[in-house]
Amino acid sequence: MNDNSRTTGKPATAARMYDYYLGGIHNFEADRAAADMVMAQFPFIRDAARANRAFVAKAVRYVAEAGVRQFLDLGSGIPTVDNVHSIVRRAQPGARVVYVDIDPDAVAESMDILSGDRDAVAVRGDVQDPSAVLNHPDVRRILDFGRPIGLVAAAVLHFLPDHRAAERILAEYVAALPPGSHVIVSHSAKESFDLVDRSTVTENVYQRRTSTPGTVRTRAEVERLFAGLEMVEPGVVWAQQWQAGTAVTDPAPPALGGVWAGVGRLT
Ligand SMILES: C[S@@+](CC[C@H](N)C(=O)[O-])C[C@H]1O[C@@H](n2cnc3c(N)ncnc32)[C@H](O)[C@@H]1O
Repeated sequence: MNDNSRTTGKPATAARMYDYYLGGIHNFEADRAAADMVMAQFPFIRDAARANRAFVAKAVRYVAEAGVRQFLDLGSGIPTVDNVHSIVRRAQPGARVVYVDIDPDAVAESMDILSGDRDAVAVRGDVQDPSAVLNHPDVRRILDFGRPIGLVAAAVLHFLPDHRAAERILAEYVAALPPGSHVIVSHSAKESFDLVDRSTVTENVYQRRTSTPGTVRTRAEVERLFAGLEMVEPGVVWAQQWQAGTAVTDPAPPALGGVWAGVGRLT
């Protein structure tokens, strides 16, 4: 626990640091100190976080407009400006949504905005335990696994350091989904982080200050997470450049990226 955390008693968390990157108010001194350090080391991080959130909105809207009426959002985070259930219901009124996060504060904040909503719920769960998540009574109560589901794993799989394990874990979720389901993934890009001179990186912030140390993956590694799925055009691209059904002919340089993003479909 670092010095800042002593003033609130709360150590930094990935959920609140991300809220701070996005300009939210659900963060404490320890989160801001940790996030400031990450931003000093990796100047693209705040833009990448915003691009990631914008991608989630674009991708969820696309999947809802494709007819999907229920979503399972893994590592959903602290509620922000436009949350998955609000986006989805603009296209699919009455759509059903389950939010899952390992962070009890993120779950509590989500429950707060969902109070009185019988078709959406937030549950505490570890994405690394697909069986527990998929068999959680609230997940089974809200979602019908006989109909297409939109699985969202946005900016969460980079908290699963083992590549093989990440592929296996995502595949376990996918195996539980029926045809017509869609999988939305975004992930911190190794290509962007590699541009930073490592001698300027004095501390691995997520490793030292949070309970969810992160990792980064290349575009090829992120593409492998979609094994067995049909990619929605434009495939895995920078979050800023993802638009369903378009081609990315002129990819931005890694310094302007930061997050790989894509959507796959189960046929
Ligand atoms: C960067 S935020 C992403 C929030 C949201 N998905 C988005 O993309 O806008 C990452 C979230 O993943 C959560 N998280 C990290 N490791 C997790 C795990 N093993 N299981 C579930 N959630 C996890 C964190 O608590 C945090 O809320």
